[in-house]
Amino acid sequence: MTIWNKAERAGLYCGLFLLCHGIAPHLADGQTGNPAAVASLGKSIYESKCVACHGKEGKGNGPAAAVLSPRPRDFTEGKYKFRSTESGSIPTDEDLLNTVSVGLHATAMPDWKPFIGDDSLKAVVAYVKSFSIRFTRETPKLITVGGAVPSSPASIAAGKNTYDKLQCGGCHGVDGAGKGAVTTEFQDDWGYDLKPTNLTEPWTFRGGSAPRDIYLRFTTGIDGSPMPSFAGSATSHEMWDLANYVVSIGRKPVWTMNETEVIEFYSHLESRAKLDPVSRGKYLVKTVGCEFCHSPVKEDGGMIEELRFAGGQRWDLYPFDNVVSYNLTSDKETGLGNWTDEQIKTLLTKGIRRNGSRMIPYPMPWPAFASLKADDLNAIVAYLRTIPPVYNRIPDPQSPNIFSYFWGKFKVLVLKKDIPLHVFPGNAGTAKEKTMSEIDARMRQSAGEGRQ
Ligand code: HEC
Ligand code: HEC
Ligand code: HEC
Repeated sequence: MTIWNKAERAGLYCGLFLLCHGIAPHLADGQTGNPAAVASLGKSIYESKCVACHGKEGKGNGPAAAVLSPRPRDFTEGKYKFRSTESGSIPTDEDLLNTVSVGLHATAMPDWKPFIGDDSLKAVVAYVKSFSIRFTRETPKLITVGGAVPSSPASIAAGKNTYDKLQCGGCHGVDGAGKGAVTTEFQDDWGYDLKPTNLTEPWTFRGGSAPRDIYLRFTTGIDGSPMPSFAGSATSHEMWDLANYVVSIGRKPVWTMNETEVIEFYSHLESRAKLDPVSRGKYLVKTVGCEFCHSPVKEDGGMIEELRFAGGQRWDLYPFDNVVSYNLTSDKETGLGNWTDEQIKTLLTKGIRRNGSRMIPYPMPWPAFASLKADDLNAIVAYLRTIPPVYNRIPDPQSPNIFSYFWGKFKVLVLKKDIPLHVFPGNAGTAKEKTMSEIDARMRQSAGEGRQ
């Protein structure tokens, strides 16, 4: 069995950014016009820098994909979010080059410009395009952008009217930050959760935060997401006013606030969070990353999707015995379905299991949860209750064998050996037969694809 250690995992999940950047190959002088040299350069850049997230076949399913939100793009469909082209059209080369150069803020997609040269950027863009047949069959349909209207109080006021007329608030809220939105829970075309962007936080806009960028976003739409195109719904003048309005509602980032502003800002956030504990709990659980540990992994380190949150990840915890993470889904037999709120909270803050036994403070990081505020703890429990049940029976925790425990301690403390830390691939729990056969089929399919 291949065993890959924690350092590798940490490297994969947290240090992808660093790992992906190295000395990049580039074209020799005079080779920029040579298609074979460009193709081979594009492939080699792609395989060293992009596969971890976008996958070898460009399907957006690299080993790191399952832990990222939003997901890395699936290039095989030729469907792109940040374009200067009509809704549904393929992007231009400049659009792609721009995305790859400056990255996508507030997502895992890095900015590559500082790390790879111009010829390499162009070559990798050409390689990305080669995953979809659309680029050989279609031409990009450029959107027409009318003459710019400079920002002014009058233009901003008119833009507010357009914001209301086009009902941007239905998804983004009357204040651009979600207040009074009809719904803020969406899914993208690939079935993954998606939130409407908070329009008061322009530093998170992936397509740029200048008026022209914003103008393009709502006239081109964000393909693959519920954000529609509003092309033709208002005059070009009104569109510019709207872009100026969106720029005007950008709030101060926390890092530029003074003390009073920071206190006021966070108390406002807190009072909003109380109104929606499930969303707050989801946010906390995702931030802490409970599912990184509480889902089993494949050989390549990617998560076994069908068992997300269903536990079964096994760690070799020398000098202790192996530990297996628990099933956090709401399954009544094997998950948290029959735990009381108090039992979950006691476990999270004190490390005491339902049967009264105690957990060591590692790898389950319960000491870090000990000081969670009551509201946040309630919110976590509220969200855990909403995770659909998945049957996966986890073996009972073992107490360490006293002799190997002391021998291990001796090795670590006296002989100063490093503590080896292994994560085993595969599910250490017992899932339902149907779930297992689905997983097997998926794994066979992706192994087959890898060999092509
Ligand atoms: C650490 C993970 C990661 C790596 C490495 C990475 N990407 Fe991405 N990439 C993403 C994510 C996540 C998205 C989707 C963001 C979104 O939907 O907002 C994305 C989106 C894209 C898009 C689509 C933009 C659009 O308009 O829809 C392109 C093109 C792209 N990446 C190219 C690349 C190339 C080329 C490389 C390698 C040089 C690369 N990426 C490496 C995570 C990554
Ligand atoms: C049906 C819901 C919906 C409506 C209506 C809507 N949006 Fe969006 N908007 C979204 C979603 C969802 C996203 C995030 C998409 C993503 O992450 O891929 C988004 C993203 C954005 C972004 C961020 C783009 C970036 O660069 O990251 C801007 C700006 C924006 N919307 C402006 C507007 C404006 C202005 C209007 C009205 C003309 C509007 N939206 C109407 C759902 C909506
Ligand atoms: C760094 C990895 C890691 C993270 C992050 C993590 N856990 Fe755990 N958790 C574990 C492991 C490993 C075990 C099994 C420990 C044992 O048996 O001693 C465990 C055990 C548990 C148990 C059950 C213990 C039992 O056997 O009765 C619950 C419930 C639990 N975790 C909830 C959570 C929640 C909720 C979060 C996020 C807020 C979380 N965990 C985050 C690794 C982790």
